Amino acid sequence: MVFLRRLLMLMLTVAASSSLLAEDGYELWMRYRLLPKSKQVPVSQIVCPMPTARHIKQAQTELKMGLEAMLGHSVNVVDKVTKENALLIGTPLTNEWLNELDVDLRPFNEEAFVYFPAVFRGKKVHVIVAQELEGVMYGSFWFLRQLQSGKPLPKKRYYSAPRYKLRLLNHWDNLNRSVERGYAGQSIWDWHKLPEYVDPRITDYARANASIGINGTVLTNVNANAMVLRADYILKTKAIADTLRPYGIKVYLTARFSAPIELGGLKTADPLDPQVRQWWKEKVAEIYGEINDFGGFVVKANSEGQPGPQNYGRSHADGANMIAEALEHHGGILMWRAFVYDDKTPVDRAAQAYSEFKPLDGKFLPNVIVQVKNGPIDFQPREPFSPLFGALQQTPSLMEVQVTKEYLGFATHLAYLGTMWQEALASPTRRLGKQKVLDTLTGIAGVSNIGSDRNWCGSHFDQANWYALGRLAWDPTLGAERVADEWARMTFGPAVAKPVVSMLMRSREAVVNYTGPLGLTHLMATGHHYGPGPWVNNLGRADWNPVYFHRADKDGIGFDRMSAGTLKQYAPGWQEIWGKPSTTPDNLLLWFHHVPWTHRLGSGKTVWEELVSRYTSGVSEVASMQDEWAKLKNKIDPARHSQVTEFLKIQHKEAKWWRDASIAYWQSLNGLPLPNGFAPPEHSLEFYKYLSHPYAPGNTHTG
Ligand code: GCU
Repeated sequence: MVFLRRLLMLMLTVAASSSLLAEDGYELWMRYRLLPKSKQVPVSQIVCPMPTARHIKQAQTELKMGLEAMLGHSVNVVDKVTKENALLIGTPLTNEWLNELDVDLRPFNEEAFVYFPAVFRGKKVHVIVAQELEGVMYGSFWFLRQLQSGKPLPKKRYYSAPRYKLRLLNHWDNLNRSVERGYAGQSIWDWHKLPEYVDPRITDYARANASIGINGTVLTNVNANAMVLRADYILKTKAIADTLRPYGIKVYLTARFSAPIELGGLKTADPLDPQVRQWWKEKVAEIYGEINDFGGFVVKANSEGQPGPQNYGRSHADGANMIAEALEHHGGILMWRAFVYDDKTPVDRAAQAYSEFKPLDGKFLPNVIVQVKNGPIDFQPREPFSPLFGALQQTPSLMEVQVTKEYLGFATHLAYLGTMWQEALASPTRRLGKQKVLDTLTGIAGVSNIGSDRNWCGSHFDQANWYALGRLAWDPTLGAERVADEWARMTFGPAVAKPVVSMLMRSREAVVNYTGPLGLTHLMATGHHYGPGPWVNNLGRADWNPVYFHRADKDGIGFDRMSAGTLKQYAPGWQEIWGKPSTTPDNLLLWFHHVPWTHRLGSGKTVWEELVSRYTSGVSEVASMQDEWAKLKNKIDPARHSQVTEFLKIQHKEAKWWRDASIAYWQSLNGLPLPNGFAPPEHSLEFYKYLSHPYAPGNTHTG
């Protein structure tokens, strides 16, 4: 008896503290834990007459699993309402009797859903209904999220429809499972074992994506390997597509422009050559023969050594249209990247995408979408938005953001990118006009930070960036803070959401400050881009060197984009603001202007004083995140808490490295003393220059 009582006590204690049991992050934000009674919403059963229909099956399986875990009782799937508080899910076609409920689906798209509480045949019920099955699935994930994050269910009808049709991940994954700019282990696509063996992890990947609305994934690196288009690889891709399809996710591939030569044995890849055109048509037909809902291709052409139409004296439009024509017939799309630059072109690198693509506006086939990085250079911690947004009037565009943190500290630095993307998305294209960047897009694509690491992203906090990608692509007006709050509640629990959100919201600006304040950009070390290298001036191409970007010397610092003509690519309202140092916001000053070190800012400080102060505050911000995190020690499970603690230590050490190395280098040019009260760099400039990290991860491409 005594033994049994003790055992029972032990079991209760374990249950009570189960939220603090070691966790490894595998579940991502889909952690369904028993809710306190006060937060439980009564749900007795899931009513769904066609439980095996595509998307509905996934929805009801997830709902059953999530609700049972959160409510602590069984929730069966039935085909009729038999109890109070049933949850009805379906479309007016799958559940004809839903029509009794005055379901108003408005002119909705196929992925939208509506939730409302109602009384059905005398019983109180919850209803999730949509025009199409995908919508029911998204509504089901939304329902779980509301409960899980401790948010009340709406009392009135709640409608939700994705803003964009294309909500995509771009994996920069190679066929040998290395991941370009990947910091989370190997690629999750195990090409060697496919198609026979599909890792069950792919199903969890699909669940996670569906839960945040991502509906497409590009499996392979933009620096493409033609082999993925070979017949055996098409079957491997098919196996992945079959696993993702039930979750509403389409598969896309990257296409290497020279594939007709490499795979097809042709002598040329010239887009106007009839044999080449025929080769693409046949190849595309072969893919659709296996995967009838294949999404299409992404192409990186004539950029950083990749082959493209310019090799044959043809334009980007010639190249894109050739492949797009082959896809058009099957309903596929072609995402053609605008990330092009060439050091033989004597203009500012930041101006080149616009210079190449603006004149081609209107020359692309309707199924071509130009994929534009959020900023005009390359995913730097801060850039203004790309001038191509809003400038392409007749060609749809996608915004490409980088979820993997190539330039923001790899996996170990805590940097929430929601704030950065919000900054770009919410920028008005004409400064005083109503149109924002987000109004000009047809979709958002994020360069994935997902890999084979147990926690998927290399760090627990980096999961927030995957989450934010999906949520902002669904609704770009949600705001970074709200998204951070949802994620924090689900990932670490509502009780710690406030401090976690505060860390997230401050984190990106901290990185900007310790790596490149006041609009400085592209100052990192060569190749792997790990750590500072503002002194680098020996690379094969001028526009790969940090000195090209900061142009600092004894007298001043910054890139004069007025004489480079880049500012003219923006609308006149922006030209006025960014045209003079006095009207340019401090955070972009050195992006647009070259100024003397002694130039005075609005604050009264000189540029030099402000730089030193911002570098230093970037480091202290990390220290303050460490303090904030330390206070959560007994509120978060020990395994995740301690990993984040250790990573913050790394971040602090590396933030100081960035600060000290940068200050030492600037001082070697300007000879200025440090402003009063600021600590000198710990080591000499020579020390920092001498450091080398040949095995830093993610480096599979030069530049
Ligand atoms: C960056 C990155 C490369 C990548 C390129 C691209 O330059 O460092 O690894 O290939 O962007 O977006 O194509």
